[in-house]
Amino acid sequence: MNLKIAVLAGDGIGPEISAVGVDVLSAVAARFGHKVTYEYAICGADAIDKVGDPFPEETFQICMDADAVLFSAVGDPKYDNDPTAKVRPEQGLLAMRKRLGLYANIRPVETFDCLIHKSPLKDELVRGADFVCIRELTGGMYFGEKYQDDERAYDTNVYTRPEIERILRVGYEYARRRHNHLTVVDKANILASSRLWRQIAKEMAPMYPDVLTDYMYVDNASMRMIQEPRFFDVIVTENTFGDILTDEGSCISGSMGLLPSASTGEHTPVFEPVHGSWPQAKGKNIANPLAQVLSVAMFFEYFGLAAEGRLVRDAVQASLDANVRTPEIQVDGGAHYGTKEVGAWLVDYISNHNS
Ligand code: IPM
Ligand code: MG
Repeated sequence: MNLKIAVLAGDGIGPEISAVGVDVLSAVAARFGHKVTYEYAICGADAIDKVGDPFPEETFQICMDADAVLFSAVGDPKYDNDPTAKVRPEQGLLAMRKRLGLYANIRPVETFDCLIHKSPLKDELVRGADFVCIRELTGGMYFGEKYQDDERAYDTNVYTRPEIERILRVGYEYARRRHNHLTVVDKANILASSRLWRQIAKEMAPMYPDVLTDYMYVDNASMRMIQEPRFFDVIVTENTFGDILTDEGSCISGSMGLLPSASTGEHTPVFEPVHGSWPQAKGKNIANPLAQVLSVAMFFEYFGLAAEGRLVRDAVQASLDANVRTPEIQVDGGAHYGTKEVGAWLVDYISNHNS
């Protein structure tokens, strides 16, 4: 297969984990005989510094021309501490989502047995938890009409029928490929937008008789997720609830540094880690590259290249088993591996391992 990848490394630890992602992708491609080319583009605070725009037109075009985007992270503390800043790195992320039509954000929550001791939850609760959160990504409060003066402010949570139907379809398709259980998370006891979600979900459920659909209020879902994470198979929810629930989900596994995501929709799909830019770690060679690497697995799987995705996942598992880990997930007394060293180990495994 010929694949053209847009690489958006962004800010903070972004460039370091991006380099590992690219090396892993190239190693898998070499092994399977795929031809991959890369186009590098700027985004986030880096792009604000260079051209004054966190998602410049040129970057958009490079994304549109590519088969996939390998994205890392954006964000810089100098903007977090300045509420008056007119442009912010995060706006670049929202612009990318909107302009590429990335309405479905797929965030798997997987646990690794050898990391369960790092989870804040009890071992017996978390072992075997494995679910996917599907977050609507281009609607709701993030993009609805906003207003702010010194006395009054609002954000509008708008959803239309086509937006709800298409994301529910993604939810059902995922449930069918997994364990046929879809949980629709909303706040239908309070919000009109949620009532429309629930109404449409109830209309669609009979079209998927093989899938068990259940409905849960978001407050209850947030509790259930830590009390009984194994209850869930596929969750589908709106943008803001999905933002919050996926951060909660990400700590279940023991480290946010292990969770990848895919955003798909109308144009080029984007593969990125769930964690952010971790500016304090920038340039220190300590960031865990595994979430980025697993996003490369999701990339291969998206293109139907299951064996390639499997090899990436096997390499990650093997590195964990061999205790080749970055400091935050290392076992007591284990050697410290940096971002680059973990990357080199994975590339070596991918290039040379024979199962
Ligand atoms: C996420 C992040 C973003 C969001 C921020 C960085 C804009 O928290 O991808 O979950 O709120 O969507
Ligand atoms: Mg978030």
